[in-house]
Amino acid sequence: MNDNLLKELADIVGKEHVIEAVQLRERARHFWDASPLIAMGLIRPANTDETSRVMAACHRAGQRVVTHGGVTGLVEGDRTGAEDIVLSLERQRNISEVDTIGRTIVVEAGAILQNIQNAANEADLMLGLDLGARGSCTIGGNISTNAGGLSVLRYGMAREQVLGLEVVLADGTILSSMNAMMKNNAGYDLKHLFIGSEGTLGVITRAVLRLRAATPHSSTALLAFSQFTDVTQCLKHLDHSLNGTLNAFEVMWQPFYRLNTDPSRTDTVQAPLARDYPLYAIVQSSSASSQFSAPALEHALESLLEAGCIEDAVIAQSEKEASNIWFIREHIDIALEPPLNFVYDISLPIACMQHYVEELERKVHATWSEVQLHVYGHIADGNLHIIVCPSENSECSRELDQLLESTDSTDIVSTIHEQWHTYSNQLVYTPLQEMGGSISAEHGIGLLKKDYLKLSRSTAEVNLMKTLKQTLDPKNLLNPGKIVSLE
Ligand code: LAC
Ligand code: ZN
Repeated sequence: MNDNLLKELADIVGKEHVIEAVQLRERARHFWDASPLIAMGLIRPANTDETSRVMAACHRAGQRVVTHGGVTGLVEGDRTGAEDIVLSLERQRNISEVDTIGRTIVVEAGAILQNIQNAANEADLMLGLDLGARGSCTIGGNISTNAGGLSVLRYGMAREQVLGLEVVLADGTILSSMNAMMKNNAGYDLKHLFIGSEGTLGVITRAVLRLRAATPHSSTALLAFSQFTDVTQCLKHLDHSLNGTLNAFEVMWQPFYRLNTDPSRTDTVQAPLARDYPLYAIVQSSSASSQFSAPALEHALESLLEAGCIEDAVIAQSEKEASNIWFIREHIDIALEPPLNFVYDISLPIACMQHYVEELERKVHATWSEVQLHVYGHIADGNLHIIVCPSENSECSRELDQLLESTDSTDIVSTIHEQWHTYSNQLVYTPLQEMGGSISAEHGIGLLKKDYLKLSRSTAEVNLMKTLKQTLDPKNLLNPGKIVSLE
C-alpha cells in the first residue's frame, strides 16, 4: 500500500483498523471460497463520517476501493486484486430503535440481515426480506445488490423495503436521503440509483427500512407434482384462496430434491414425500392469526389433491418438521460440492419454464456425457436457479475436444474448464433473450455476467449506465470493472 495513504487512513480509522496485505491473506476471499483475500489492505471505518474521510483520501490518491459486506454474493461483485483497498463495513452494524407507529427501522449497512429481522420481530413487526444467507449477509450488501430471496412474491425485493438511504459518494461527499415517509415525490428519488448498483456508484452506509405487520403464524407444506402445468395451476389457486398470506412458493426439480434427501448421506434429511415425483414445491403461508394460516392452507391443499393437481402433500406439524422441509430447499452447499460447478440465477416467463428446462437438459446432456443439472427456484417470481456440474471425467463436446488438441497452454485443464463455463453460459443465457427473460434475476452482474449484460439490456440502457458511472465516479475508483467497463 502507498505508505502515505496508509498513514492517512490509519489516522482516520485507527491503526488497528487498517489491515495490511500480508495479514489479509489469513481472511477467506469469499463465504464459499477459503482462498486468501488478495488486496492492498482492508480499512474498517467506525461510522459514516470516517467512511467519508476514507473515501475522500482514496479519491485524492486515485485509489481503487471495493466495498465488502458479508461476501456471500455469487457473481464476483466483491472480487478484489492486489491494487484494491477493501472497505469493510464490519464495524457499522448498529440497529436503531424501531418506530412502531411509522413502522420503520434505521440500520447501519454492516448490520446482519438476521439481526434486523430479529429486532423487527421483537417489536411485533417484520422485515419483508428473507434469504438463505440471512445469518451472514449484511443489509448494505442486500441493498447494493437489490437482493430478492424467499418472500419476494409478497413483499418485493430489497428495493421495496428501502425508504431512505445514506450513501458516501466516490469523493467522500455524504448524500443523506434518510427519508422515512412512504410517500416522497420531491424530485428524483436518488436512492434508487444506488440500490442494485453493486457498489459501483457509492458506498451505502445507512438505511431506513420499511417494516410490516408481524405474521408470526406460519404453515409450511411440501407438495409433489407429476407435471409443471400442475405447479402453475397450484400457484394460481393458492394465491387466490390464501387471501394474500402466501409468503413463499419455492419449486425444486427432482434431482435437487433427491440430493438433499439422499438416505446414503449424513448431511441430508429424511424425505417427507416419496423421491420419485418430477417436481416438488415448498409453500409457506404466514398470517397474524393462528386461526387463519393453518386451516386455510389445509383446506386449499385438500381441494388441490381432490382435483388431482397435486400428487401428494405434507403439512409440517411442528417447527422441526418445517425446518426439515426448508432444509431441502436451502441446503444448496450440497449441490456446490462437485469441484466444477456453474451457478445461474435467471428469470423468464413462468409459462416458458418447463420447455426451457427440458431444452437445457437436452443440450447439457448432449454436451457432457457425465453432468449433474440441478434446477430450483422462486418460480412465483419467474426466477430459476440452475447449477450445472460437468464431471471432470466427462467426454466433452466435439468443439471442446478440438480445443484440447489445439491448445498449447500448460494449464490445459483450467483452459478447458473456462471453455466449459463459457459454453454452459451460452446454453443457459442465449434462449432467454427471445423470451424477454433476464440473465440475472436477483444476484446482479458483478464480473461474472458482465459479458452477457447485452443479452438483457439494450445498448441505450448500457450506455446510460456508463454515463451514470462516469458522472458519479469520474476517476473510476468504486468497485471498478464490475457491471460495466468504462474503457
Ligand atoms: C438461492 C440463492 C442462490 O435462492 O439465491 O438459493
Ligand atoms: Zn435465490
